[in-house]
Amino acid sequence: MSDTNDSVAGGRAPDPKGAPDAEGALDPRWGQPSPLHDPRILAHFRGRPSDVLITTAPKAGTTWMQQILHQLRSGGDPHFRSIYEVVPWLERPRRDKDWRAVLEEYETLPEPRIFKTHCTYPQTPDSDRVRIVLSSRDPRDCCVSFYHHLQAMTPQARRRSGIPEPRSFDEYFERWLAFGAWFRNVQSWWPHIEDDNVLWLRYENMKRDLAGTLERISSFLGWPLPAARREKILEYCSFEWMKAHADRFTRFPEDEAPSFRPGGFIRKGEVGDYRNLLTPEQEARILEKARAMLPPDCLAFLGLPA
Ligand code: A3P
Repeated sequence: MSDTNDSVAGGRAPDPKGAPDAEGALDPRWGQPSPLHDPRILAHFRGRPSDVLITTAPKAGTTWMQQILHQLRSGGDPHFRSIYEVVPWLERPRRDKDWRAVLEEYETLPEPRIFKTHCTYPQTPDSDRVRIVLSSRDPRDCCVSFYHHLQAMTPQARRRSGIPEPRSFDEYFERWLAFGAWFRNVQSWWPHIEDDNVLWLRYENMKRDLAGTLERISSFLGWPLPAARREKILEYCSFEWMKAHADRFTRFPEDEAPSFRPGGFIRKGEVGDYRNLLTPEQEARILEKARAMLPPDCLAFLGLPA
């Protein structure tokens, strides 16, 4: 359930908190309002040192990370109704309450609170106070995964999100590349990879070694991973468990119905699936844009050709 809104990142210098100015206008650093992005929530959110923000470019394993962190925090919980109830999407406007009520609800959540966000670094509130778990994924796979995401949305969810249905893969590809959210997102976070409060994980490594990933997150956050709960937590975070319980991950708390057709969101979960859809020319254009926007050490870290 992802889109991003980062078109104004890097605008004029923000006031200390990016609060409304005298005219009541918000600092543009918080982005433009959209059905998936309420800048007022970002401007007024107050992070706590115990908070954890999951930040990703869309389709980089966001929902998987929401599940992993919720399971680590709870010691294994198979009973939640919607992952968005236990790990809210920070900047998402709600149909059932205004932004002030959303922030009030955040205030009542038990600590440690966990949120998902697709914000770039400049858009992320209190990024120096909270802890950040970032997941990145090969842009070629993110591109293809997001195409399937759009194809699998129910008509109602599509109308609400304001994102049009792609007419063809080629048309979608041009829009994805030109919009460039993946590139801006990774570019904005890369200078912070060594920050003490940032843990940057790669989807490809999570796939290779989920148990090791849980250990790394558990020691970074200081959340214990008791041996007696380990197998259950691993089971709940597996692709198979999440696919079998897909309605938990595809339904917002205020919605009666999931936003995706069955099988469309927790879809394939593979590394390199882009090979089934991207032409060599399209793949080369993604890599070219990555080379133009990211430094060589970042490309190497991501496993992309320099
Ligand atoms: P695919 O479309 O390639 O299958 P996000 O949550 O950021 O939107 O990312 C969704 C992608 O993560 C989808 O990729 C989905 O299948 C994959 N995913 C979700 N849960 C997963 C899991 N437990 N293991 C591996 N991949 C998972």
